[in-house]
Amino acid sequence: MREYRSHDTNIILVQGDLTLQDTEALVNAANSRLLGGGGVDGAIHRRGGPDIMKELDIIRMTQGDCPAGQAVLTGGGALKARFVIHTVGPFYQGGSEEPQILADCYRSSMRLAAEHGIKSLSFPAISTGIYGYPIGQAAPIALRTVLKELDRHKFTEIRFVLHSAKDYEVYDQALSRIVEITQ
Ligand code: APR
Repeated sequence: MREYRSHDTNIILVQGDLTLQDTEALVNAANSRLLGGGGVDGAIHRRGGPDIMKELDIIRMTQGDCPAGQAVLTGGGALKARFVIHTVGPFYQGGSEEPQILADCYRSSMRLAAEHGIKSLSFPAISTGIYGYPIGQAAPIALRTVLKELDRHKFTEIRFVLHSAKDYEVYDQALSRIVEITQ
């Protein structure tokens, strides 16, 4: 685990299971249909139970699909986290707009959390699994976007929860490069 302080916020990199995190909210790597899936999405619904999908059913009926880059909020069901923020990452095809959409996922999630007074948040490495986004490209986007958004919204803790040691290393090196530049 690695801890970095910025804007009075603990930025934590940790290797582990997102669904076990005890931050107030978890961010889910969902799909636009909000129908659940594999990866993080599947793990959240498995551990969180059916109440989360019940809330997504209502959201889907009332506001339709969730476009890539945007986010919706539900309760945490049986999870330790009280809330889940479901955001939809870009499906990686090497397009020019994908970095912006990925950054929007982190921005939208933090803004939605701030609107609900949520002060601690855990992110997975959005889009780097089934959606195929190369994690070496995604990590600096995630870290830079979150650090920049802290200029606008106050949090006590933001965690980046990486599933594998390899992914953790990628984030750790990306954070070191960002910290060196800003020091
Ligand atoms: N905890 C932390 N990280 C996890 C976990 C977990 N329990 N499970 C998977 N991951 C990691 C993956 O290794 C990857 O690095 O989360 C990252 C995101 O991978 P995915 O969950 O596959 O999400 P994404 O690439 O954004 O694809 C989204 O997959 O599950 C479906 O419904 C979802 O269609 C959507 C698509």
